[in-house]
This record gives sequence, structure tokens and C-alpha cells, in this order.
Amino acid sequence: MQAFNISRASSIFLLVLLLTGLAGPSAVLAQTTPATGAPPLILGTAWYPEQWPESRWDADLELMQKAGIHMVRVGEFAWSRMEPQDGQYDLDWLDHAVAAAGRHGIYTVIGTPGAAPPAWLTQKYPETLRTEENGRKDQHGNREQFNWANPKYLEKTRLMAQELAKRFGHNPWVIGWQIDNEYGNVSFDDATKAQFQDWLKARYGTLDNLNTRWTTSYWSETYSNWNQVPIQTSYGNPGLLLSWKRFVSDTWRAYQKNQLDVIRPNSEHQFITTNMMGWFDGFDHYTVSQDLDLASWDDYVGTGHLDQYRNGAAHDLTRGFLRKNFWVMETQPGSVNWAKVNNVLDKGEVRAMAWHDVGHGADAVSYWQWRSALNGQEEYHGTLVGADGTPVPLYSEAQQLGQEFAKAGPVLAGTSVKSDVAILHSYDSRWAINWQRHNANYDPVEELVSYYKPLRDIAQSVDIVSPSAPLSQYKLVVAPGLNVLSDAEGKNLIAYVEQGGNLVLGQRTGMKDIDNGLQTERQPGPLVALLGGRVEQYYALTDPVAVSGAWGAGTSKEWAEQLSAKDADTKVLMRYGKSNGWLDDQPAAITRKVGKGSITYIGAWLDPASMAKAAKWMTDASGVKPKLGAVPEGVDVYPREGDHGTVYILVNFAKTPQTVTLPAAMQDVLKGGSVRSVELPVYGVAVLSAAR
Ligand code: GLA
Repeated sequence: MQAFNISRASSIFLLVLLLTGLAGPSAVLAQTTPATGAPPLILGTAWYPEQWPESRWDADLELMQKAGIHMVRVGEFAWSRMEPQDGQYDLDWLDHAVAAAGRHGIYTVIGTPGAAPPAWLTQKYPETLRTEENGRKDQHGNREQFNWANPKYLEKTRLMAQELAKRFGHNPWVIGWQIDNEYGNVSFDDATKAQFQDWLKARYGTLDNLNTRWTTSYWSETYSNWNQVPIQTSYGNPGLLLSWKRFVSDTWRAYQKNQLDVIRPNSEHQFITTNMMGWFDGFDHYTVSQDLDLASWDDYVGTGHLDQYRNGAAHDLTRGFLRKNFWVMETQPGSVNWAKVNNVLDKGEVRAMAWHDVGHGADAVSYWQWRSALNGQEEYHGTLVGADGTPVPLYSEAQQLGQEFAKAGPVLAGTSVKSDVAILHSYDSRWAINWQRHNANYDPVEELVSYYKPLRDIAQSVDIVSPSAPLSQYKLVVAPGLNVLSDAEGKNLIAYVEQGGNLVLGQRTGMKDIDNGLQTERQPGPLVALLGGRVEQYYALTDPVAVSGAWGAGTSKEWAEQLSAKDADTKVLMRYGKSNGWLDDQPAAITRKVGKGSITYIGAWLDPASMAKAAKWMTDASGVKPKLGAVPEGVDVYPREGDHGTVYILVNFAKTPQTVTLPAAMQDVLKGGSVRSVELPVYGVAVLSAAR
């Protein structure tokens, strides 16, 4: 009985935390690079001083300084050193480490250590351990074994963060905070389930409302008590699945805010971030980011080589969380240890990747990690120095980057990425499609990237933002798979078109409502009237289907939507060829002009060549031009714009050297002098400044 009371009290505590103070976006956003003298473009590394005797620190910091490293991220796994016993904090060693780094001109980002609770903590408070979905209680010995919804864990992480903030919140060498590390694991214990049920009650108000909106009369799912609602994560009522994900996201936000609220009042000139994971979809990153000053992510290739499109889109996704420059908080120095084959990136590729990061809007690139712990789960991971403490071959490439960042930093200071094209991305939609793919090969991220690649090639800059973001600054907005469309998002899109914007909708858009239920209108739901057409039927495909029309002849794979053009103004752009009988000669893409704007629906998953033509059509129709002008295939262009002009970063990902002729003379920032063209070897980089 007592346990029951405690768990109810706990769930109410968390619910209050979730519902109070979480209503609006964070009030004051700090600058990316604070007023401390830290360089505007930062090369950094993850450093674990707690793993080494203090007598060794200077040698490491000296080597970092020689490589042009100006930032270390420390502390995120050092809880057992920071609080060796319950309530006994020892931060002197960290103070020494921050000061030692400062003596080498190196700034510190402190990670709060919630991702790796000490053994005494889980032994004393076993309720802080997470329960896996199969009911197994996690245990000490790895990391992320904590329950992100547990009030005791919240109390302990808050006290820890407070101690750190009091000690380092005014330290001029500490420029920022990383909360925890890569939020991911959640818990399926009974107390968390009770919190979820309370969350549902707060959201839906009455069971009648929940039952109606989830259509629980289906399969006798009707609930007569909140405590009957289960947790389901992959197969279940779509409204329940989506609610669980939203609860998970809100709980991560509350977990983070719990620490943020003790750091902010105790610090100044320091940003707060957390390191996210690109396409990872364990929670809604828009929900969690809104309380942060800075978005950052951990950018790993794993097996193979950099795919500049999929990876570039992940940068743009991260930039879109707060719609401003971001940090790459971790990236691989050559190789990782966790992929199928942990190959080392080619000579020059790590440097090319760093400039690709900066081009997409990163103001810092930080290598994980400086040196391997002599024991531990990640002995094989790439580093900048070896177990013997001397540089590995890649160190010289990092050193080159250090010198280049020092040269380019002042030129890039104050610049950011500005795009004429936006792609809309939503976690609700990705989850909804992934739970009911209907064709196992239907990967919503792959579908998004199929639009992103040709659009980026043409526009040389693309934003990826949430469907509720302001859109009026864009000439072209593309929503590849906006499956779940809320009323507010639908209105945002309609207003955009009515004010002269060009909107392109892709497959599966506008099918679901806010509860992941079917819209009562055919796709694209609330946009049917504006489109003057709709989806008559969708077909999962075993084989590609031919399509032809304004964008030439090609195919659609995985999925095909049979469209109809009902309004006289709605034009058919593409039609299906001979197929299953249903699709034969039916519209595959339609468009309608609306005042100065337009709305287009593409029902086919176009092959790359047809998609390139479609992208050309979209950009021509909306007046989008390449920011720099034509460049050879394989050369990536990244414009960063500021008050004084534009800085163009160029990286050659082609397999052969390339020459780029510039539209006007520009300053070569890395080599010096004014240039009209640049020669780029394989993985070659140029940073060019064009004054306004
Ligand atoms: C993640 C973690 C790091 C480290 C790296 C290894 O990004 O945040 O602690 O484990 O992976 O690639």
C-alpha cells in the first residue's frame, strides 16, 4: 500500500513538473559563443581527466593546444568522482582540470553526469534503475541504466547539477553546459505507467474524449478507468502509440528542465545544450530543444564514408531545432568502435567532414575522444592520441583544422545559413509511418532525403524545419511525408500558400489527425480544397511503376498514390504508365496556382533522375537560384551569410580533382589572395569570402 502511495505521489510530482513552466519556449537565448573570448569557430575534443593522474594533464593539454584545440568537454560520465558518496561532493579535481585547460587557452563545456550514475546510487536507490520493456530491471555496469521519470533520480541529478553550477557557473573558462548525454533509454515500470496515465488525463480531460479520439470501440479497447491504459510502443492503438511518444518527449523535457532550472540562476554567459543524435527518433527533438540555448549533436559515420546528403540533412535538421547555428559536440576521429566494420575515414576525409559541418552551420566541431581510457567498453574507438599518450597519424589533420579554424573563425563570426527552400519534418509523421509502413521498405527519412538531395544541389542551401515553424521567408516549402497534420499546421501551410508561397506535398501527406487517426477527408485532408484535387487511393508496390509527363519518363518505387484533379485550375503534371490497372494513366502529380503562390502534390516516389527534374521544376517555378552558381558535380557549396557579405565553403566529394570557376573575385580565406577560380583535390576545401 505504501509503495502505491509513493508511486502516486511521485507521478503527481512529475506531472506538476511537466505542466508548470513548460508551457512556453525558453525566455532568454544566450549567444552561441559567449562573451568570454572563446574563438568564434571552435575545434574541441572530449577529455576525461578523471581517467588520468593529474600529473599527466599538462602533457595532454599541451598537445591539444598545439593542435589548435580550444574546447574540452568534460565530466559527463564522472559522477562517481564528483560525488563519491551520497551527498559528499568532490569538485576540486574538476576545478583543477578547468584551470589547467585554461592555462593552455582551452575553454570547457561541463557535462552533467546523469547518463552514468554511480554504483552506490543505484544500490541505495534501486527505484532509480530503469525497467526495460520486457520487464527486466537494468543494472549497474554500463550506462543509461537510470529511469528518466523517477523522482529520486530527478532529485539526485538536480542536486548534482546545482553543485556544479554553483562551483562553475561564473568560471570564465567554462563556456557552456551539456545536460546528460544522448537521451535515449526510457523505463516501463509501474510508477512510470501511472505518470503516463496522469499525463493522458491532463491532455484528454475525460475518458470519453480519449475513447472517442482513439476510436476505442474498435477491438473493445474502451477504457472505463485511466489505470487501464497500457504502455505500447510498436503495435497498438495509433493514438496510444503517439501519446506514449509525446509523454516520453515531455518527460525528457522535464528531466532536462529539472537541471536547467538550477544551472541558469547560478551561471552567466554560459549556454546550455544537450548532445542529440541526428535522425534518432526516440523523442520529439522540437519539444526537448525549446528550453535550450544551443542545439548540438553527435555526428558519426560508422561503417563506410561520409554520405554528404544524408549527413548534411541531419545537420540541417539539427540547425532547425532552434533555427540557428549549432554545434557538433562529438564526431569521429577516423573511426568508431560500434559499427559493423569500423573502418577509418580516408586521409583528408575527416578535414572535409569538419568543413562540411561548419558549412551547414556548426560553430564548433569536437572529436570524441582525445585518448582512450586504458580499460572500458570503448578501447578500440578512434582518438587523437594513442594509449601511449603520443599523437596518432590523424592528429596532424586535426592540427591542420586547428590552424584553418583560427584563420576562418573571424571571417565566419556572425554568419549563419540562410535558405530559400525549407523541407518540413515532423516526428509525429515519421513515427506514424514507421508504425504502419504498409510497405516494409518505406523509410520516411529516405523519402525525405530523396527530395533533399536534388533540392540542395540546386539551391546549395536547404532548411529542415517543423511544420509549425514560420514559413514566410521561404520561396519554396516541401513537405515530403507529412502524414500527421494538426489543424494548426494545416492552417500554417494554407496561410503560406495564400500569401504567395510555393508548397509541394509528397506522399502520405495529410492522412492523419493529431491523434494519429484518419482524417475524415481523403489526403491531403485540410489541404484538399486548396489543391483542388486529392488522393483517390494509395498502393504499396512490389515493383516500380512507370511515370511520365512534365518531368520526363521515370518510375515510382515502394508506393504510388492515384490522384485526381477536381478543380478546373488544377493541372496534371505526371501520369502513371501501365501498371495494376488501377493506376494506369492516372495522375501522379498535380499542381494548382493560388494567387502568386502554388500548391503541388506528388503521389509518386520518384527515381533520382525524375526527382532531379521535379526539383528543377519546383525551384524554377518558385524563383530559387543556386547561391553561388553552377559548380561541378560532387562539389558541395555551403554559403554562410553575415552583415558584411557571404562566406562560401566548398568541399570536393567527387572522386577526381575539380576546378570551380567563381562568378566574381573572392578572398581565399585559407590560402590568402583574391581568386576567380579554385582547384580542389579530392576532399579539397576552399573557404571564400565575398564582401557585399
Ligand atoms: C556516443 C557517446 C560517446 C561515445 C561515442 C562513441 O556518441 O556520446 O560517449 O560512446 O558515442 O562513438
